[in-house]
Amino acid sequence: MHNIKQLKAGQTIPLFSDYQIRLIQAQDLDAIKLMLDDPKVTEYLFFAPAPAEVYEGYFNPMIDEISTAIKAGVWADNLVFIVLDKENQFAGMVGLTQVAMLAGNYEIGYQAPQKSWGKGITTHACQLVSQLAFETLGAHKITADCYASNEGSYRVLLKSGYAQEGLSKHYYKTEQGLEDRLYFGLSK
Ligand SMILES: CC(C)(COP(=O)(O)OP(=O)(O)OC[C@H]1O[C@@H](n2cnc3c(N)ncnc32)[C@H](O)[C@@H]1OP(=O)(O)O)[C@@H](O)C(=O)NCCC(=O)NCCS
Repeated sequence: MHNIKQLKAGQTIPLFSDYQIRLIQAQDLDAIKLMLDDPKVTEYLFFAPAPAEVYEGYFNPMIDEISTAIKAGVWADNLVFIVLDKENQFAGMVGLTQVAMLAGNYEIGYQAPQKSWGKGITTHACQLVSQLAFETLGAHKITADCYASNEGSYRVLLKSGYAQEGLSKHYYKTEQGLEDRLYFGLSK
């Protein structure tokens, strides 16, 4: 991957078309909270909706950890990448977290505001972050999971080379009834 040094240093690099990507910064939190206020976005998110303090409590330590890592010239253990449009506005995010106690195992997740949907943004970001994990972070396995009816989410994974590796029946209790949980994975 070219541009990897700039990305690691907290700089913005091209993603595709007019979109760019960089590591999360404190200023991104407002746009994230706004996105997570949208019921269409949180429909398939087990951690949302939630009070603003919950999001702050989750993201602020990661933002601090990432900022410290950038200054030290290393990758933080848990990474959040922000996609920006050509006006430098928030267009989506991808998180890559290490699985506790295991070396080389990562989980990937993503969210985008409705205005960004269906433009290929998350697919491009998921592909870049997955490549980074395998080529630079020493990953041997990346996994992800989603609600069975979250077509946008699993389409991103399938288009990024992931395969469905499992299914947990009736896992989620939703207003529509019980819903299966799908497990996806990509090996190095
Ligand atoms: C899931 C999500 C991140 C997809 O992001 P995106 O940037 O729209 O994804 P892409 O544009 O790369 O699209 C990937 C594929 O999914 C399809 N897709 C995107 N949104 C869709 C939707 N709401 N319903 C059905 N298909 C959808 C696209 O058409 C594309 O498929 P195609 O190329 O075969 O046509 C976005 O819909 C979202 O933020 N949803 C709410 C949060 C969420 O559910 N996150 C995932 C939790 S596991």
